[in-house]
Amino acid sequence: MEKTLVLIKPDAFSKHHAGAIIDRYEKEGFRIVAMKMLKMDARLASIHYAEHIGRPYYGDLSGFMTSGPIIAMVLMGENAIARVRKLNGKTNPAEAEEGTIRKQFAESSSRNAVHASDSPESAAREIPIFFNQMEIFDADDAIG
Ligand code: PPS
Repeated sequence: MEKTLVLIKPDAFSKHHAGAIIDRYEKEGFRIVAMKMLKMDARLASIHYAEHIGRPYYGDLSGFMTSGPIIAMVLMGENAIARVRKLNGKTNPAEAEEGTIRKQFAESSSRNAVHASDSPESAAREIPIFFNQMEIFDADDAIG
């Protein structure tokens, strides 16, 4: 079983797509083991997107991700990291496959509805940025 960090970004949240997106993950069989609503600030964005600092798009990325509320979740399932990335679709929605979340809900490479960890190393780094262990219900008997 793997865990992965998912963010529902400000564009999707402000357009009232959060419920539909969460439904897609649950219907695909992923278990929500942590979830919260928050507004990122520039410091949190710089920690989460540390590897992108200095790239030409970083200012836009940080400004966008701090522009409104987001939902952060930890999803758990077999091979969850790769499967969630596949369900999300490519960064650029014009290249995203039919049936993916980004094909349905994203506007552009920067306003693209969702984020998900891209590797086990990323998931291990990103999950504790948003959740402490008491907020993660991943024990077998944690949820019904
Ligand atoms: S990926 O899938 O992580 O490899 O995507 P990548 O192309 O490397 O992009 C990394 C994140 O940067 C965002 N992005 C942008 N934001 C603002 N403006 C521009 N031009 C832009 N290009 C890429 C992209 O949405 C990725 O965000 P996350 O949250 O990681 O999906």
